[in-house]
Amino acid sequence: MPGEPQSASRSKPRSGWVVLWEAVRPHWVLTLLGVIAGLAWTAAKVSVPTLTRLAIDRGIIGRQHGALLHWALVIMAVGVVQGLAAGARRYLAFDVAYRTEAELRERLFLHLLRLPFAFHDRMQTGQLMSRAATDLQQVQQFIVMIPITIGNALIAVSVAVLLLSINAGLAVLALGTLPFINLFAKRFSSRVHPVSMNLQQELAGVAIVVEETVTGIRAVKGFGAEAIQDAELDRRTGRVYDRAMEAARIRARFMPILDFFPAVGLVAVLWYGGHQVLAHHLTVGGLVEFTSYVVMLIVPLRMTGMLVAQAQRAVVSAQRVDEILSTEPTIVDPADPRQLPPGGGGEVRFEQVTFSYVPGARPVLDAMDLAIRPGEAVALVGATACGKTTVARLIPRFYDVDSGRILIDGVDVRDLVLTDLRSAVGLVFEDTFLFSDTIAANIAFARPDAPFDQIREAARLAGADEFIGQMPEGYDTQIGERGFSLSGGQRQRIAIARAFLADPRVLILDDATSSVDPTKEHEIRDALADVMRGRSTIVIAHRPATIALADRVLLLDEGRIAAEGTHEQLLATNERYREVLARAAEERRERRPDDYDEEDQDAARMARAASAPVEG
Ligand SMILES: Nc1ncnc2c1ncn2[C@@H]1O[C@H](COP(=O)(O)OP(=O)(O)OP(=O)(O)O)[C@@H](O)[C@H]1O
Ligand SMILES: [Mg+2]
Repeated sequence: MPGEPQSASRSKPRSGWVVLWEAVRPHWVLTLLGVIAGLAWTAAKVSVPTLTRLAIDRGIIGRQHGALLHWALVIMAVGVVQGLAAGARRYLAFDVAYRTEAELRERLFLHLLRLPFAFHDRMQTGQLMSRAATDLQQVQQFIVMIPITIGNALIAVSVAVLLLSINAGLAVLALGTLPFINLFAKRFSSRVHPVSMNLQQELAGVAIVVEETVTGIRAVKGFGAEAIQDAELDRRTGRVYDRAMEAARIRARFMPILDFFPAVGLVAVLWYGGHQVLAHHLTVGGLVEFTSYVVMLIVPLRMTGMLVAQAQRAVVSAQRVDEILSTEPTIVDPADPRQLPPGGGGEVRFEQVTFSYVPGARPVLDAMDLAIRPGEAVALVGATACGKTTVARLIPRFYDVDSGRILIDGVDVRDLVLTDLRSAVGLVFEDTFLFSDTIAANIAFARPDAPFDQIREAARLAGADEFIGQMPEGYDTQIGERGFSLSGGQRQRIAIARAFLADPRVLILDDATSSVDPTKEHEIRDALADVMRGRSTIVIAHRPATIALADRVLLLDEGRIAAEGTHEQLLATNERYREVLARAAEERRERRPDDYDEEDQDAARMARAASAPVEG
């Protein structure tokens, strides 16, 4: 599809409320049970002051021991009900909330795995996941509040009704301060919310500094930048402190006000109600009952303010999560998939392939044609950033071509099921990603059920068996995070073994031996020569010795194959080819002065050009 942005298409954003509702809906039974428990809790709580009045008026004032005991027991029973209901409500609420959070997290994770590389290029998926973690937490904290919110709302309503029915005049006096509580609670939350959002951001900033310093610890130490990172952290921690204190100041200012109004209400009730008791319009129990109800109103009223804020946050968070979930993956299985012909040797063809990472930009590959015969090994050579890795990425559909097509054994890669395609294409990149797991598990990454002797055979072919054998626990040795406990060359060999074990039709080695010690490289080259048989291989390399492994060399330049032939032929005839190799040799020399001898030989070989054959 030429010109179409190839990252991802997006369906219409939905309201956060809809998203929240859909997340909770599968658990409606549990939610309902939680709400019922919340109602039982409300009923129990609301009945206590009335029962207290009965105990006081009939038992204490009426001087009846039996009645006192009776009502005391009833209150106790109600207390038990209230306790059990509170426990059940809490348990059910957290159950639903954590389930929903876990489900959303898993959906998000699976979705991120399905999204194409182009999305990950743009979005910095790591940061996306950590922001999503905060969003999921907001959603979870909101869902937890559902039963208690309903309980509290009911308390507020039923208490207001009760107060009015008990004593309308007193009720008006008591409820008179409530609008102020509500007003200040709202004002409080609207002041404190932006500050606490700000605080969240600053905290995330601190987390990023810590994370980047730790993941980039080699760069930090390598450049002696500890003090710089320390100063950066210090600066950000200072900002966290400022924001946190700002929030604390707002709290300190509003809390006394929020506590003051209910006290005023209570004083008014005691004063006016006390006179009514003295005038025998109200019993003592009635007054206690009344004040208990007024006190009971305070928490729900204050909570509504906070609840509104929490709900707003959860809605925004849910919307953000949904935005990711509704990003449609564009690189997907075809509706009507074809299969690779059995026994194919891994023929690869590019027909007029044009591709650019950024729509509208100058294409990286421009109407490129390429043909690799079954079983053939070709070397792809070209200057830095000419698009070699891009060629490697297009074959397994990490990206889709803008126009033209790519065929494996005669089948367009877009007509294949992605898992079939990707198991037919083996890739080894320069920077190898290893998982924190055993060496054997890392080699068997694509085939976790591979028998051990096959794992070992693959390692042997990749020249890794020997050093693995010398490790304390052999193949069961755990490798540290990202495999940093291994040398670059060791990592690459494990990656090569991984590709061998997967036994692909098309094997692509992108600078895959670049970190391997030149004096050891011949071992891998021998191994490569072994496994290249019976499949087609694309070797992306700059070292003449590695290039010499190939049957044919392709020079990639200006988005196309500019020349092809054997290494010797190109050296003899192509100025650009000599230039590219010489430049690469120079770069390597700058990077790794130790390789000087080897590079010197390369240079000598190039100088001899076609006159002398090059050996691996
Ligand atoms: N994910 C990406 N998003 C945008 N542009 C990219 C992306 N990857 C590569 N490019 C650009 O595409 C061009 C080709 O890059 P590519 O990695 O294919 O070069 P290369 O030939 O493999 O180079 P090298 O020899 O340095 O590995 C470069 O200009 C690069 O900046
Ligand atoms: Mg590259």
